Amino acid sequence: MQKLVIDGGKPLQGETVIQTAKNAALPIIAACILTDEAVVIENCPKLKDIDAMLDIVKHLGCKAEFNGNDLTVCCRDIELNVINSDLTGKLRSSIFIMGSILSRCRKAYISHPGGCEIGLRPIDLHISGLKGLSVKIMDDCGVICCDGSEMKSNIINLDFASVGATENLMMAGALLEGETVIVNAAREPEIVDLAEFINAMGGKVSGAGGSVISVVGVKKLHGCRYRPIPDRICAGTVLAAVAATGGDVTIKNVVPEHIFGVTERLKKTGSRLAVHGDSMRITMTNRPKPLHKLETNVYPAFPTDMQPQFCAFLTRATGSSVIVENLFESRFGYTSELVKMGANITVKDRIAVVNGVPSLHGASLRASDLRGGAALVIAALAAEGRSAVFGTEHIDRGYENIERTFGELAATIHRVQI
Ligand code: UD1
Repeated sequence: MQKLVIDGGKPLQGETVIQTAKNAALPIIAACILTDEAVVIENCPKLKDIDAMLDIVKHLGCKAEFNGNDLTVCCRDIELNVINSDLTGKLRSSIFIMGSILSRCRKAYISHPGGCEIGLRPIDLHISGLKGLSVKIMDDCGVICCDGSEMKSNIINLDFASVGATENLMMAGALLEGETVIVNAAREPEIVDLAEFINAMGGKVSGAGGSVISVVGVKKLHGCRYRPIPDRICAGTVLAAVAATGGDVTIKNVVPEHIFGVTERLKKTGSRLAVHGDSMRITMTNRPKPLHKLETNVYPAFPTDMQPQFCAFLTRATGSSVIVENLFESRFGYTSELVKMGANITVKDRIAVVNGVPSLHGASLRASDLRGGAALVIAALAAEGRSAVFGTEHIDRGYENIERTFGELAATIHRVQI
């Protein structure tokens, strides 16, 4: 077990390079199954979630190897093994591998997925979408058994613009004869990246980034080299940390339009932001101003994956903020840890009211999910005195060496073995 020990209360200073997006790399690894040739994913982050996805593709007979940060995945022959719950339990996104296995093998067997404890996270949209492509699906004691022997392309209308279900269907359609159309598709940048990756392998995906995506199946896809997009949530996490501590920081390797929903709101809190190509500089000199209403929603609205980090710095705002979580029904679990630091937060269902206080104090904290864990690190960086953050395994799912990132920015943060 490990913990992060943080001596807070210092403004962040300096520059840091943002890692590649976990949520882009995960579906791209799953999509490697679509070809029997080698794929090189450049600058792939080394994260617990990436390891969990690699364990799944290796279980299916693929080879995967890091050379520095370049990851080579080769799925020459697929073994149609059941992906059991010790593999899927570590990663909810394991579910979208169904689409790529089906596309390539026309059969798939996968246990119900796990993932962050932030709500019910059902998979009904994935199932009904695949059924719309004439896949026969049965649940055999927790194993989802998919028979795609009569799979046909179709128009699939999603009831909700789910990121994972959209990705699953894009992969399912990639090698399927005819045109698969996804209506009410998710529009997140990671969807566009997956489309570009499939096209780099010789696929025919168009419309990604809009609400209707067309996937024209091809007979065969080939290997390629691909560099996924920068991680917009990691970029937002560093910006939120500066809003919490004050300071002057430049982040490099960022796509400014991907984080527009975040930066627009940061400006309202008094942060100054300047963009230079793929770099962004944030300066913050005062306590943040409150945000009267911060609501999460699907892209391009404010992302749910940034909600906890914003809550962390709004605890120090000069007034009251209201946060409404529209995507996940229980994503405020981390707030009880912030209260231990002197934060004044009241939660009811999907709404949190954050009454800003002048300062937080250090405390012993436990992370119980990925972004909630990032919020605790931000609060600890801003707090007076020393904090310990336990549950680092959650943070390591999505941040490649968070202590190095903040250490580069002059924070006092260390990982300690316990
Ligand atoms: C992805 C991201 C995650 C982010 C989320 C929302 C990855 C690996 N993860 O997760 O970090 O928080 O998008 O931006 O990219 N839902 C259903 N039925 C389904 C599928 C989803 O009801 O079959 C609901 C979920 O419970 C949730 C909402 O839809 O309330 C959003 O889920 P979805 O967009 O599918 O998120 P993920 O793909 O799981």
